[in-house]
Amino acid sequence: MEAIRVYPDSSMSELRATAEAGANIALTKYWGNADPDLRIPANDSVSITLDCTRTVTTVAFQPDRPEDEITVDGRLLTGPARERVSHHLDLLRERAGVPWRARVVSRNNFPAGAGIAASASGFAALTLAGAAALGLDLSPRDLSVLARRGSGSAARSIFGGFVLLHTGARDEDAFAEPLYGPDWWDVRDLIVVVSRAEKAVPSSEGHLLAPTSALHRARVARVAELNRQLLDALARRDFAALGHAAEEDALLMHAVMMTSRPSLIYWLPETVALIRRVQALRAEGIPAYFTIDAGPNVHVLTLPAYADHLQADLRALPGVQAVISCRPGPGASVIPHPGE
Ligand code: PMV
Repeated sequence: MEAIRVYPDSSMSELRATAEAGANIALTKYWGNADPDLRIPANDSVSITLDCTRTVTTVAFQPDRPEDEITVDGRLLTGPARERVSHHLDLLRERAGVPWRARVVSRNNFPAGAGIAASASGFAALTLAGAAALGLDLSPRDLSVLARRGSGSAARSIFGGFVLLHTGARDEDAFAEPLYGPDWWDVRDLIVVVSRAEKAVPSSEGHLLAPTSALHRARVARVAELNRQLLDALARRDFAALGHAAEEDALLMHAVMMTSRPSLIYWLPETVALIRRVQALRAEGIPAYFTIDAGPNVHVLTLPAYADHLQADLRALPGVQAVISCRPGPGASVIPHPGE
């Protein structure tokens, strides 16, 4: 595996680096932890890193800084959101033996509150930028393990293309690995935005509720088989097999969410209408399959020849605010500082 190149760009007064990472869409989901403190997922998951929704993050560790200052899309983080990032920086500081606090500036190329989760791309970019700034010599696998501690799905965004996240008995065993690069298969993910509202229950809290559902264990057992089907579908580029496995696990995950205590219902009426529309389009012979994360927006998976037609069709449905067309994209990388 090619090592991710790390370019520490330091001056006497600070240790600084910038990294970029893309979001990813899970075909089988991470929902629920085997170890909540370490964010070790209950099951393996398979995803596609996307080219369209990316985060660029600069981390600068400074010797005279009294506390971490984190800005995301121009907004200063406070409270638990700030604590979560700060705690993640602590993991990097401990590794490097550098106690300096940091200034973090993070920008998403999609509007904040677009209804697209930024935690995967955000924690992947933060981990890589922070490690590069501190000059840590980490393999991609090590970076993936560290990114997972910030957000489980971020472990997958370290890599481009088609990615498998392993659960594991120990911290270092729960890492993502690339299965195929972004050029392996040109599949499309049309992100259908029906709500830009912040979710009422963030996924970090949702994961903790998963074991309260009677369906959780059954889902975890079933996902093992769905992952086998997905790996086979990817190897053979069998789109129908990929789509069926992805739809089944999206429905299983939402069944777990709905039957948790308290119950989590992330869907809106528009979500259900979109599921029905995708099913109707498929009955007409169009290869379209849905998957849904912890929110009401729907990802429609399709093949390039159908993407424009589908995008127009979905855009015209009542309540649809935007359709963002994505394809498989690259993994996280260190980049020159913005403006340099
Ligand atoms: O990485 P987190 O804690 O935001 O959890 C991701 C949860 C889902 O997006 C619903 C599923 C997944 O595997 O990406």
